[in-house]
Amino acid sequence: HSILLLNGPNLNLLGTREPTTYGTTTLPDIIATLATLCTQKNIAFAHLQSNHEGVLIDRIHEARGQVDAVVINPGALTHTSVALRDALLAADLPFVEVHISNVHKREPFRHHSYLSDKAEAVICGLGTYGYEAAVEFASRSIQPRGK
Ligand code: DQA
Repeated sequence: HSILLLNGPNLNLLGTREPTTYGTTTLPDIIATLATLCTQKNIAFAHLQSNHEGVLIDRIHEARGQVDAVVINPGALTHTSVALRDALLAADLPFVEVHISNVHKREPFRHHSYLSDKAEAVICGLGTYGYEAAVEFASRSIQPRGK
């Protein structure tokens, strides 16, 4: 099994960014937790955070045929990016969409996602634990490539 974690714009600021909404756990904390979890499960783990839509898209293209599943928190690109949706579909990669906050409890413009109808699963409102839940789910439910 192999999993690619992608985080979109502003998620590099986790821990200090609007802590009442997103908590105090930092992105390096999350990556360390997931790396440990994946090691325990014998899953190869890679990650990328970018504030640039095209960088995320390029990474998705690179992952085509190389990883079994993507766990992605697209940040605000969730609500704007047809291009990110198309990249995930073009790469034919099963993905789990993660949001730290419960986007449905927030502004109406956060209620629509360009990815959710294509996601294997959507997790929101679990805080940063959502990433762990996503990796757990992906490791159990998404078939390894070529199997
Ligand atoms: C987010 C929710 C988005 O609406 C927001 O733009 C983010 C983070 C979340 O993790 O809750 O940047 O994806």
